[in-house]
Amino acid sequence: MSHCRVTVLISGSGSNLQALIDARDRGEFDADLVHVISNRATAFGLQRAAKAGLASSVLPHQAFNSREEFDQALAALIASHNPDLVVLAGFMRILGPAVIERFQNRIINLHPSLLPLYRGTDTYQRAIAAGDREHGASMHFVTGELDGGPLISQVRIHVAADDTAETLAARLAPREHDLIVATSKLFCQHAIHCRNNQVYSGDAVLQQALRLQPDGSFLE
Ligand code: GRF
Repeated sequence: MSHCRVTVLISGSGSNLQALIDARDRGEFDADLVHVISNRATAFGLQRAAKAGLASSVLPHQAFNSREEFDQALAALIASHNPDLVVLAGFMRILGPAVIERFQNRIINLHPSLLPLYRGTDTYQRAIAAGDREHGASMHFVTGELDGGPLISQVRIHVAADDTAETLAARLAPREHDLIVATSKLFCQHAIHCRNNQVYSGDAVLQQALRLQPDGSFLE
């Protein structure tokens, strides 16, 4: 059986990319990590990709005159490795129609909040400022709406009274790693898909986000 071809887009440390690599190496994620793309040449995740022997590319957004030109180039670069799935793992650029429409229903994003709460940045700080008792991370299919595409899965953590954005982010990170692996796996196993802006689990429309359990599985 042919493996699911996965391209991962990063901008920074790439710890979520590492989680995908490690899961694959442990035999828990049956996928070909065919390509890593970073919009920043200095992203540490590129070193992780090299160490794992993965093909990688840098596409610096500053090198383009417009968002549209960057998007066109990114779409061509993604297409060059013919992925079944594109995972945005800490990729800090907003994608335009040239990418989203070309790879419709095949791009998933990890976002550090319990969407629909806190789209955009500074999510930890915003959750603390609001006095939230829970924070977490979400994965969703990517549409033209920033952090607004159909939700697939979430993981929740408790917010402690003395949490700072840093402590909260540090506690969430390993759970995000579990979430990105488990969710990518579901897609690659054809257990979930997206159609007409809705997520399907098998033949049924998913009514709420799948919730990651402590053991890394999903409660239905
Ligand atoms: C993660 O916290 C993710 O939720 C956010 O950016 C961070 C990326 O971390 N979007 P890494 O580059 O995978 O280490």
